[in-house]
Amino acid sequence: MTKVPILGAHGQIARAATRLPLDATDAHVTLYPRRATRLTPLANNARVRLIEGDVLDTAILESAMAGQDVVYANLSGDMERQARAIVAAMRKGQPFANPRAYVSRESVADLVVKLVTGPGFGIGESLGVHAA
Ligand SMILES: NC(=O)c1ccc[n+]([C@@H]2O[C@H](COP(=O)([O-])OP(=O)(O)OC[C@H]3O[C@@H](n4cnc5c(N)ncnc54)[C@H](OP(=O)(O)O)[C@@H]3O)[C@@H](O)[C@H]2O)c1
Repeated sequence: MTKVPILGAHGQIARAATRLPLDATDAHVTLYPRRATRLTPLANNARVRLIEGDVLDTAILESAMAGQDVVYANLSGDMERQARAIVAAMRKGQPFANPRAYVSRESVADLVVKLVTGPGFGIGESLGVHAA
């Protein structure tokens, strides 16, 4: 069962896209709008968690993202800042094992190919390539 937060959940595309995982899969969805009252009816679904927050609010974002598998960011505005906040929250508590190690581009390319072609490979993980 996949856990997916939808950031900017009151956005037009997000509202359309929320129906699909709920109707066609057993995914658990965390709706993350800036004003929760606008999505309150959806919170009656047992597979929906409703958390009000701005993606630039680090504490709320980190608690919403904990234990999730994939993230759907349906946002507008300062996307570079938003993306940094989201990636930081995804990486929280997962320090890279060996940041000074030399890693060949072939090794990184190999990981990328596995991520793209391996069904389920790497989902929910913060991956890095480092020498042993
Ligand atoms: N390339 C294309 O062809 C194409 C086509 C359509 C859309 N898009 C893009 O896809 C994205 C989504 O489209 P949409 O129609 O769903 O847009 P939308 O209706 O404007 O939704 C964007 C959502 O982002 C939320 N948001 C903005 N800043 C936020 C923040 N700091 N924290 C939390 N939420 C925040 C807004 O919250 P509030 O509701 O509180 O304002 C809004 O609900 C947009 O970036 C749009 O430009 C691209």
